[in-house]
Amino acid sequence: MSASSHYSRSTIGLFFCAFGAIIALFACVPDRNEALDPSTMPEDVRADYAVFAQRCSKCHSLSRPLTATITDDEEWVRYVNRMRRQPGSGITRADQVPILRFLHYYTQHRLDAGPPPPTIDLDATVSAAVEGGGG
Ligand code: HEC
Repeated sequence: MSASSHYSRSTIGLFFCAFGAIIALFACVPDRNEALDPSTMPEDVRADYAVFAQRCSKCHSLSRPLTATITDDEEWVRYVNRMRRQPGSGITRADQVPILRFLHYYTQHRLDAGPPPPTIDLDATVSAAVEGGGG
């Protein structure tokens, strides 16, 4: 009896250990949905995208840049410079060229699909409305 209960406890332990390993394995695989499908891009953009996807997914998911509401090339230059200067970024100055080329393409593509909804400063708008409507 005691031998069999010992056996089952270690079986359960083994099960959880294997389960944990499987979870950890999946956690390392990036969410496919967050990346773009290169086959939807013009051929000359794909190589640029590959550099972007590799360099810009190291510290955060690709959705970070892909969902950023940045529409201006100048602003992307500032961001990519900032990311390059992060310790251990692995981004070289030479990488910035294809990355920025891709981000330019991506931004134009998004703008063509319709501008993103305008952002407002909600706090300022609300307090202005409250102050203005005070009388
Ligand atoms: C070395 C790690 C690292 C790499 C590589 C990296 N980032 Fe980041 N990124 C960060 C950190 C840390 C933050 C959050 C802090 C911040 O906003 O500076 C961030 C935030 C961001 C944000 C959101 C900023 C905001 O204000 O909300 C964007 C957009 C972004 N990264 C784009 C990129 C792009 C594009 C690349 C590839 C060129 C890239 N990142 C590569 C570390 C990195």
